[in-house]
Amino acid sequence: MQKTQNLTIVIFGASGDLTYKKLIPALYALYQQQMMPLQFRVLGVGRSPLSDNDFQLKMQDGIRQNCEKHHLDEAIILSFSENLKYLAMDPESENDYATLKSTLDRFDQEINAKGNCLFYLSMPPSKFGVVANNLGKVGLNNENDGFKRLIVEKPFGYDYASGFELNHKLHQAFDESQIYRIDHYLGKETVQNILVMRFSNGIFEPLWNRNFVHHVEITSSESIGVEKRGGYYDSSGALRDMLQNHLLQVLGLVAMEPPSSMDSDAIRNETLKVLQSLQPIHEENVDKQVIRGQYVASHIRGELVKGYREEPQVDPDSRTETYVAVKLFIDNWRWGGVPFYIRTGKRLPTRVTEIVVHFKPTPHGLFWNKGEEQNQNQLIIRIQPDEGILMKFGLKLPGAGYKVKTVNMDFHYSDLLDTHLPSAYERLIYDAMLGDSTLYARADAVEAAWKFVAPIQKAWKENHDIKIYGYPAGTWGPENADELIEDKDITWRYPCKNLADDGNYCEL
Ligand code: BG6
Repeated sequence: MQKTQNLTIVIFGASGDLTYKKLIPALYALYQQQMMPLQFRVLGVGRSPLSDNDFQLKMQDGIRQNCEKHHLDEAIILSFSENLKYLAMDPESENDYATLKSTLDRFDQEINAKGNCLFYLSMPPSKFGVVANNLGKVGLNNENDGFKRLIVEKPFGYDYASGFELNHKLHQAFDESQIYRIDHYLGKETVQNILVMRFSNGIFEPLWNRNFVHHVEITSSESIGVEKRGGYYDSSGALRDMLQNHLLQVLGLVAMEPPSSMDSDAIRNETLKVLQSLQPIHEENVDKQVIRGQYVASHIRGELVKGYREEPQVDPDSRTETYVAVKLFIDNWRWGGVPFYIRTGKRLPTRVTEIVVHFKPTPHGLFWNKGEEQNQNQLIIRIQPDEGILMKFGLKLPGAGYKVKTVNMDFHYSDLLDTHLPSAYERLIYDAMLGDSTLYARADAVEAAWKFVAPIQKAWKENHDIKIYGYPAGTWGPENADELIEDKDITWRYPCKNLADDGNYCEL
């Protein structure tokens, strides 16, 4: 394990949910596993006045509520929280940065951090530009004395132009090598495992191309609705919230060429090429290649589940999609002609994220009569929950004749005794402390992903004939999504059945 250098982590937006639920618990978990530097400070920054002690008490509570049980140890929680400090300041006011600078200088003396700083912007993206700029004005972007790194949270814009503009603003004060755009999907252990599975085994890679792969599915389904985030979600929707970032990044890892090394740029150059090779979906084809839906009220096991439009802070006439399914192609030598199907949605029957690689059937169906559906090999990479890998293949059923049955070879991460899967934030913050940006989204990749979704956004905005389908909460999204897959023998993989007792599929 590499040792991290002494540093101060400054969290802007310290009173927010993310800090309480994810960031501080992740830092604590690293501390408990002795992965934090010998000496460090975490400085929470926010507008509301708070003493160090109040901040520490609140964060201790966040740790107890949100950390996995096996990490919890009261003595360690107390010694960790001695490193937590708080500074009340207005991040948008240039004047307040002198105090921030002098506080950081003081910490530098106390913990011998040699100027190393990690700034975590856990705040609305509209503030990123001004905070980066203000940091720059007091020299807190200058790496002459210690590293200065900036972690930013999505959304990285809401379309191509704003994504580009945001990158431009960040680049005015910070070099791209100092910017860490967090995409928590890349921090998931099983997402990183895509790289290891593909490139540490001799058996998969020769088959990983158009000659052997029939099609690929990427599903990320959630059973929850928009919860308390109706306000944000209604101006975002599934395309921006999940597909443009998390799922296209995952696609990048599934479809990339082998990198020449494990160097951050070597890997990110390859994932970028995938995003740049996505066949543009022309506006006139959007309704044929993209299906959008919105959940409507239904009963699940007798309980009424609200429709999206009834959720708090959601426009009662909203046409924001809570489901999106896309059929896309990658125009390159490896994948030419292979359809990739990606779908994501809220209020689907279960929470599951998985990648399914469907291999082509054998060229000659020895064991099948004409017209019979032939066994197809599938490799299923389960990102969450029940992280693991499942291979499906045909075997002979015992007895007379040659009846073929599809059987499973199934690996579960939980079978690795004593192995705990670190949370995405643990992994990502640790990497940022080390200066490893492999699992962070680079500006050019974010822009390439926006470029791909731009015609979809435009068509949805301008062409009111493009339908949005209502699907009952607890079902697998609009039935029309099946039509994206043109082969009549093939459907999406449904890891479980629809749950809704009632409700209608409809056009909204
Ligand atoms: C977030 C989205 O980025 O990812 C949420 O904003 C979504 O809407 C979440 O629920 C899903 O993350 P996970 O790790 O639970 O799959």
